[in-house]
Amino acid sequence: MPDDKVKIPKNQQFQTPKGVHDILPEDHDYFTYIKKVVRHRARQAGFRRISTPMFEFTDVFKRSIGEASDIVTKEMYTFPDQKGRSLTLKPESTAGVVRSYLQNNLNQWPQPVLLYYIEPHFRYDRPQKGRYRQFWQFGFEIIGETDPALDAQLIQLAMKIYEDLGINDFFSLQLNTIGTPESRKKYMQVLQDYYAGKERSLCEDCKYRLDKNPMRLLDCKAEDCQILASLAPKMTDYLDKESVEHYAELKGYLDEIGIEYTENAKLVRGLDYYTKTVFEFWDKTEGAQNAIGGGGRYDGLVELMGGQPTPAVGFAAGMERIIANMKREKIRVPKKDELHVFVAQLGIEAKKKCLPLIDEMRDAGLKTMGALGKGAINIQLKLADKFKAPYAVLIGITEVRERTAIIRDMKRGVQEKVNFDQITDRLLELIGEENLDKYHPGELLY
Ligand code: HAM
Repeated sequence: MPDDKVKIPKNQQFQTPKGVHDILPEDHDYFTYIKKVVRHRARQAGFRRISTPMFEFTDVFKRSIGEASDIVTKEMYTFPDQKGRSLTLKPESTAGVVRSYLQNNLNQWPQPVLLYYIEPHFRYDRPQKGRYRQFWQFGFEIIGETDPALDAQLIQLAMKIYEDLGINDFFSLQLNTIGTPESRKKYMQVLQDYYAGKERSLCEDCKYRLDKNPMRLLDCKAEDCQILASLAPKMTDYLDKESVEHYAELKGYLDEIGIEYTENAKLVRGLDYYTKTVFEFWDKTEGAQNAIGGGGRYDGLVELMGGQPTPAVGFAAGMERIIANMKREKIRVPKKDELHVFVAQLGIEAKKKCLPLIDEMRDAGLKTMGALGKGAINIQLKLADKFKAPYAVLIGITEVRERTAIIRDMKRGVQEKVNFDQITDRLLELIGEENLDKYHPGELLY
């Protein structure tokens, strides 16, 4: 139910909860297009699709994302089931994918295992532009390989997808390394020492984070926290040799494949499972607000979830944010829903003819709609116009008697009479083979 005081019309008394939205047909055109691009690029690179459940045991997320992270402390939709077990709607997919990798013995597959997903996620975030409580992500996970060449390839894959979608120019790649957990431990101590005595200048969130996860103080957006962060000791001075080498090698590969990046020593990401490489794609005008994607290495997560030590790297992008960018840039996507033919009829005998005809036309790949309710032909033709059908087929009493139909070109306003058994063929000619929407049962459809 709506929670603001605005008077709501009676027919709209039921509203979506704050932060969630209907995906109306126009937006589905964008979602469908993005999904196609993602699937295409994923298949080209050998990734296979996975879907994990909408909810998992809460511990899956607590253990992996981190007890002190914003997601776990503030943003999860957690509820008990009938037996009192704690479940949580998935706020992201990496944790579930790693749980699945272990539960289904994917470690027996040839490594690395390359998986991708296109899924809705749920976070009790403060709703604002680009920040929703249910949102879609597509994401990629590469599990079982430590080489930085894979980090580079993953970043390249993300950029290819942004390029295909026409939005790559609006984002900058922010890159950093946050080292191994051991080197981070040392650095976190240094940070806590640096912030000691400065707590009063910190925002409430950072006061809490200081004890649990001081690195998050570096990417806080509050003004005073940013000033303190800019003077804080740098992670780069505490990195271990292995992470330094991994990072240097990664940058070498990115240079080689011509990918520009901005090194950002303050980029730490909000999920605790990362090690070494972290990256985000920032809006060139809005910065860290509304990143359209982010990811990094999580070499310790499989082990943390109970498996053998197994390196991994992954990435996910927010689809609503991508769509907002595509719309702002007026990037058009194919509208596959547009009708080809509108069938108008008069009288019960005509309607009897129409039903099998409509079925035949649809099977032939013509997107067809029939005005099967009652109504004068001219009213039905107006409807054909409203539905923007380029052709209408008219069948009245005379046509039934003559076993003919009228095909009307709605744009030009001209019409022709054809024999009943030639209607579909004539329309196929007029619409053109390349524009048909063909469905072959048994063929793989994506
Ligand atoms: P994340 O940075 O939390 O990473 O989310 C990835 C992307 O999801 C963000 O860059 C943003 O575009 C989108 N997103 C996040 N929260 C919202 C929201 N409330 N509303 C709209 N869009 C949102 C992860 O989720 C990691 N699992 C990525 C990853 C995969 N790391 C390794 N593998």
